[in-house]
Amino acid sequence: MDLKYGSDEAKKFVTNIGLITSKGKHGENIMAAEWTHVISYSPWLVMINIGGNSATAENILETKVFGVNIAAEEHNGISSISGNRSGKDINKISMLKELGVEFYKANEINVPMLKGAALNLECRVIRHESIGSKMMIIGEVVHSEVRKEAVPIIFSSGSYKKVTDFVAPSQRMSQEELDALVKKHKKG
Ligand SMILES: Cc1cc2nc3c(=O)[nH]c(=O)nc-3n(C[C@H](O)[C@H](O)[C@H](O)COP(=O)(O)O)c2cc1C
Repeated sequence: MDLKYGSDEAKKFVTNIGLITSKGKHGENIMAAEWTHVISYSPWLVMINIGGNSATAENILETKVFGVNIAAEEHNGISSISGNRSGKDINKISMLKELGVEFYKANEINVPMLKGAALNLECRVIRHESIGSKMMIIGEVVHSEVRKEAVPIIFSSGSYKKVTDFVAPSQRMSQEELDALVKKHKKG
């Protein structure tokens, strides 16, 4: 079956926003990708699932490198600008620069990186495959820079949200009660 865009079902998913940067036949580019996930610690692998016809996918499959810039709270505008128009038609990097957004040259790869992102990852493609409606691209992180104080923005129900308070445990039981329960249900 299909998952309908904007449906109640789709609204139950919560993600980061990866601002994916690339440089290739469509020039320097940036796009918003809510489907940006860490899938391995060692090696550190990141997966993005993006439209195969996007300028970003075509740039990345040509050069085999890309940048992941995890959006902080102040980056919702950059996400909307880069996520609603294509680098095939618009130079989004120069457009954003005109708005005061700063980029720096990546350390290990030849792509622009967003200055001030919560986390900047420079990735080399290790695998890609067309899956469903998207191109799955897995990159190994070859360089990272973190802005410790930055809070990543959340994307859910089609809008940007803040990470707020810690959720208190719903089952209120003592550590002893929990230990007893775990012991009771131990296998073997
Ligand atoms: C908040 C947000 C999240 C998005 N997430 C994704 C995503 O995960 N995968 C995808 O294919 N497109 C996603 N998009 C749409 C792309 O960013 C959009 O198609 C963009 O124009 C592609 O740009 P490009 O052609 O310059 O690569 C998202 C858009 C927004 C606004």
